[in-house]
Amino acid sequence: MKINDTNIKKAIKYLNNNECIGIPTETVYGLAANAYSDKATKRIFKLKGRPADNPLIVHYYSVKDLEKDCETNNLFNKLYKSLSPGPITFILKLKKESKISKNVTNNKKTLGVRFPSHQTARILLKSLKYPLAAPSANISEGISPVTKDDVYDEFGEKIKFILEGGRSKVGIESTIISLVKKPQILRLGGLDISILSKKLKTNLKTKLHNKSNINSPGRGRIHYSPGIPIRLNAVKIKKDEAFILIKKKRENNKNYFYLSKTNNLMESVKNLYKTLRRIKKLGYKKIAVQTIPNRNFGLVINDRLLRASKK
Ligand code: TXA
Ligand code: MG
Repeated sequence: MKINDTNIKKAIKYLNNNECIGIPTETVYGLAANAYSDKATKRIFKLKGRPADNPLIVHYYSVKDLEKDCETNNLFNKLYKSLSPGPITFILKLKKESKISKNVTNNKKTLGVRFPSHQTARILLKSLKYPLAAPSANISEGISPVTKDDVYDEFGEKIKFILEGGRSKVGIESTIISLVKKPQILRLGGLDISILSKKLKTNLKTKLHNKSNINSPGRGRIHYSPGIPIRLNAVKIKKDEAFILIKKKRENNKNYFYLSKTNNLMESVKNLYKTLRRIKKLGYKKIAVQTIPNRNFGLVINDRLLRASKK
């Protein structure tokens, strides 16, 4: 995609003015603001209706920038070298002298950091004198946006600018790994955890559907929800349901929505949010989902659908 200089300049102007804007990343679009500014970051929480105790991820251009705010360690350096920029977020220790706004961390001593690979996001980050705090650009608990139009759907005129970046290639949020103590996966996402396990030569501990140990606040709550009931492991649909499938059926039905026609789980995860948003827009009141295998990106799809189906 051609990068539009005028748009980047506009984005910089709004951000320097403590405004929140929509930005593209390869995972999902973010609602971005100056991470060093109390005023700008407070606006993010207000716009999203996000509880103050749910910390934000901060986006950097390079490790050199990151080192002003966080302690790095060997494990981080190793993973950074081979996997960044890309769909992975690291939780690191915050430095005392860091200028990150307390709103971002909710006064905690750790910080979630990410280096997005999306070209437009990288050019923007490189041009700024501060990193960008950016949660997914959706109203709290809803579906993350994967296009500029999706972001507009969420916030309308409440935000002044959305930077165009095409459709997000990964289509699902980043994988989150905490490197504060022993490596621990806090959220499944766009980077397959088997790749992480190989790099670290260990079977990674995941604390995912465990309510008593929520290191990532917001994880235990209903999330990623299209706002209508979702029925998992469905074999047949009822009349009024939209049916989400990953494998081609012989018969045709206008209620069928394919994430993939060939059981391709990477393609399916990419199409998940787009499809959920479409089904909701078409006015369906219920969703049924074909069984999705619990392996590689199937794990991510099931994680999100389980959370979305919680009442
Ligand atoms: O792909 C992504 O990660 C997207 C794009 C825009 O970068 N961002 C994103 O942010 O998904 P958000 O805020 O929607 O989800 C971030 C998650 C939240 O569940 C939050 O609780 C967790 O990361 N988190 C942030 N900082 C944390 C920290 N210091 N410790 C533990 N969890 C943290
Ligand atoms: Mg989110």
